[in-house]
Amino acid sequence: MSVFNRLSFQLKLLLSFVLIIVLTTVVGYYLIDRAVDRAFADFTTRSFQRQDLIFQQILGGYYERAGSWNGVERLFTRARELLPFVLVDAEGKVVIDPEHERIGEKVPREDLKYGVAIVVDGETVGTILPPPPTMHYRKSIEQGFLRTVSLALWIAAAAVGAIGILLSALLLRQLTGPLKRLDAAAQQIACGELSSRVPESSSDELGHLARSFNEMARSLEESEHAKQQMIADVSHELRTPISVVRTGLEGLRDGLLEPTPENFAALHNKILLTARLVSDLQQLALADAGQLSIKKDACDLGELVEQIRATIEVELEDMGIDLVIDLPADLPAVAADSQRVEQVLLNLLSNAERYTPEEGSIRISARVLAGGKVRVSICDSGPGLSDEDLVHIFDRFYRADKSRTRESGGAGLGLAIAKALVEAHGGRIWAENAPAGGACFHFTLPSA
Ligand SMILES: Nc1ncnc2c1ncn2[C@@H]1O[C@H](COP(=O)(O)OP(=O)(O)OP(=O)(O)O)[C@@H](O)[C@H]1O
Ligand SMILES: [Mg+2]
Repeated sequence: MSVFNRLSFQLKLLLSFVLIIVLTTVVGYYLIDRAVDRAFADFTTRSFQRQDLIFQQILGGYYERAGSWNGVERLFTRARELLPFVLVDAEGKVVIDPEHERIGEKVPREDLKYGVAIVVDGETVGTILPPPPTMHYRKSIEQGFLRTVSLALWIAAAAVGAIGILLSALLLRQLTGPLKRLDAAAQQIACGELSSRVPESSSDELGHLARSFNEMARSLEESEHAKQQMIADVSHELRTPISVVRTGLEGLRDGLLEPTPENFAALHNKILLTARLVSDLQQLALADAGQLSIKKDACDLGELVEQIRATIEVELEDMGIDLVIDLPADLPAVAADSQRVEQVLLNLLSNAERYTPEEGSIRISARVLAGGKVRVSICDSGPGLSDEDLVHIFDRFYRADKSRTRESGGAGLGLAIAKALVEAHGGRIWAENAPAGGACFHFTLPSA
């Protein structure tokens, strides 16, 4: 068994095919050979019976004329050894024997049952028995025939077997070719060549396997690319504030920068931004690993929105932005972690605030959807989103305005975090442009 396991798949299949072919040809040969033997024996017995009827007439006529079997062998002197029968008289004594050895011998009574009786005037005067099977001329004809048939059968079996093995070898090459290509491609991928693909030519199971393999390779390549992009983005985002802090500290050390409260505050601000970036990244990493801790409770959205309004009201007033809250009075509580929902709302509101011009407005609304979900929407009267934004806005580090720096905005993680948080609650988040202009962000949460 272990030797079989060590063989290649192709060899195993070939061996199985050969085994099946050899077994079926041998069994086929055996069955046909036996059937031919039986049919041939049947055929000869029948033809002897026919001959026996003719001899019955001739011998019956002789007995009628002679009144006994005396001298009957003279009827067949010329070709006695060719006679296809043995004649016994009424007592069962052999009268004619093609081999001449048993003349006068008594044949057992039960053997007479298999013979053809010769009846003269209503009395059985003798019996014609089939010749002994050892009779050499009969044997040689039968055996000659059977040998020919047997040889033909052997040749046919060998030819069928050889053709079968040849065809299965060809078939196996055809079958295992795609597997070998898959193996080679998998090894290339294991060596880091993620662009490796296999041809998807057939529509059978192997073709399906090839397509699945290519899909897997594609998603591996994409996630590898995303990982590299992420590392590049993170280091880029960290480099700027760290170098600002470093230059600032060096300036303070060398006396080039005044140690004023303003300068310290600016440096502290940079450190705060960096700390926020690191904690954002940590949250996303936790979400990726499925380890965001969500303490689901019945959470009253109306209360939550009021709290948020209280904290940002002054700021919005200063910016001349109107905050409209439109929640139905009978809005059911949602099953959610209120701190996480607050973070989602704050991330969306901080974006809306940034893009809403003076005299503009931000609207927070909610609806109960069929199926018991609650949909929360935050719409602003800003410039709205481009088609490209709509596709990528929830991607990490995506910023529509590429020239914008961390000073004038964030790292492009706010929406990615909002998405991770909403999805951790089993909800969905999406963005669209409002018909009247401005961007609208919607998310759903399950009601409690
Ligand atoms: N209400 C909006 N109107 C127009 N554009 C928006 C709006 N909200 C987000 N965007 C665009 O989507 C980008 C991604 O937003 P996101 O909140 O993820 O990142 P950010 O605000 O730039 O940084 P962070 O939130 O990490 O501080 C933004 O840079 C902005 O270009
Ligand atoms: Mg943001």
